[in-house]
Amino acid sequence: GKVRAPTHIISTISDDRGDEPCYAGVPMSTIIERGFSVGDVISLLWFKRSLPRYCTQFIEICVMLCADHGPCVSGAHNTIVTARAGKDLVSSLVSGLLTIGPRFGGAIDDAARYFKDAYDRGLTPYEFVEGMKKKGIRVPGIGHRIKSRDNRDNRVKLLQQYAHTHFPSVKYMEYAVEVENYTLSKANNLVLNVDGAIGSLFLDLLSGSGMFTKQEIDEIVEIGYLNGLFVLARSIGLIGHTFDQKRLKQPLYRHPWEDVLYTK
Ligand code: ACO
Ligand code: LMR
Repeated sequence: GKVRAPTHIISTISDDRGDEPCYAGVPMSTIIERGFSVGDVISLLWFKRSLPRYCTQFIEICVMLCADHGPCVSGAHNTIVTARAGKDLVSSLVSGLLTIGPRFGGAIDDAARYFKDAYDRGLTPYEFVEGMKKKGIRVPGIGHRIKSRDNRDNRVKLLQQYAHTHFPSVKYMEYAVEVENYTLSKANNLVLNVDGAIGSLFLDLLSGSGMFTKQEIDEIVEIGYLNGLFVLARSIGLIGHTFDQKRLKQPLYRHPWEDVLYTK
């Protein structure tokens, strides 16, 4: 047989050796000729397979819904301050991206992990939430700074409506809503947030589409693919905020003294 020198890198998602790049074995010409969408490309490069249209459309809805949430949120604020410090596009973008984490936008993977574990173990919302409290962990996917019972996040509603119409099952999302009903009995702002909605609904997508084995779902959840959706989506808005500040020729930002409590 052939003897092959050991390689330093293994790659399984794309191949650029031919006339055109292939994403998970699909040549670029096919992607263009068949009118593949951004959701299709994400499916190929992240999940290494073509997914049904209702799944790729769901992915695109997540990207559109999370693309921006105004200038006041952590990410946009950092990007705006960085752009106003005269930094370039990439610096302004990554400065905003670096705020994405357990409190802001990056709670999707943990929401999926905890909701999946609690649902699969048959925990009641009471057992789940109180168990988390005992461990001193805030429930990922629950809570919002400005959204509340009387000022719901319409993005969550839009995701739920889409899934109700197109998904074969929404059992994880329904569980997340039961958890929300319980947390809302404790405080008004403990709503299911957009991270929790995406985390629970992606579990429904993975388990209901018939496109993934149980082992593959466990691996996706364990590795944590889903924060990638927020990172990808919010990059669109952060790039926009950078251009906006440059277009407006905004000067160096300095935070006002009056807004700082100087104390010992
Ligand atoms: N689970 C349980 N209790 C909570 C939660 C939660 N997720 N969030 C708030 N509380 C309770 C706690 O008792 C908290 O008291 P503590 O500070 O002693 O723990 C109390 O509410 C105070 O809440 P707030 O002051 O209203 O919280 P804040 O506005 O600072 O937090 C936040 C908002 C960061 C989103 C919070 O709810 C949280 O950490 N949620 C989990 C992470 C998450 O899902 N983040 C994504 C948000 S959506 C997005 O960024 C796109
Ligand atoms: C967002 O999408 O950035 C948010 O939900 C966070 C926020 O505080 O509005």
